[in-house]
Amino acid sequence: MADLTSLLAFRWSPRAFHPTAELAGDEAASLLEAARWAPSAGNVQPWRFALGRRDDETWKRILVSLTVADQHWARHAAALVVGAYTGADPERCGYDLGQSIAHLTVQATALGLHVHQIRGFDRAALAADLDLSPEIRPLVVTAVGRLGDPFVLPEELLRRETALRHRRPVHALLLC
Ligand SMILES: Cc1cc2nc3c(=O)[nH]c(=O)nc-3n(C[C@H](O)[C@H](O)[C@H](O)COP(=O)(O)O)c2cc1C
Repeated sequence: MADLTSLLAFRWSPRAFHPTAELAGDEAASLLEAARWAPSAGNVQPWRFALGRRDDETWKRILVSLTVADQHWARHAAALVVGAYTGADPERCGYDLGQSIAHLTVQATALGLHVHQIRGFDRAALAADLDLSPEIRPLVVTAVGRLGDPFVLPEELLRRETALRHRRPVHALLLC
């Protein structure tokens, strides 16, 4: 395998978050700063975020919008961040939002945090609950926190948590 910077090599998406570790204010600021400095087409910066810290009102509203299966583990995350975009072209704006979340994820790894992105949530209900204006479209929820004990997870989640991670080999990705 070719060399990978440790910030990418150590990144993965856990379900076992530490149930009491909190996200400090400067850590939250650092994550948003990283997201803010992502590139975007025409430097439009279509990304918008809602940040909930454990047990605050925003966090609770985000948590209940998730599928029951994802709530089960995401309830231990120190923060839940909604990634939304504004703009008429979902393909362009969604691409840019994804880049900003990737930046946030790398910064999180640098801070010793882990991130698990979630697309399984009720977008309409969350937009209403957070009182978002119609041009703001939530696309992803990002759970952020410190690693917890995987052995407190139910059997199926423990199996997934400890399973080997796979990727297609590079040669299968190259079109020509
Ligand atoms: C946009 C996006 C949406 C995702 N949605 C979910 C989700 O709804 N539930 C979930 O458990 N994991 C979700 N994941 C996590 C992926 O399943 C995970 O990133 C993938 O299996 C690769 O594992 P790794 O991140 O540990 O390398 C999502 C990841 C991304 C990037």
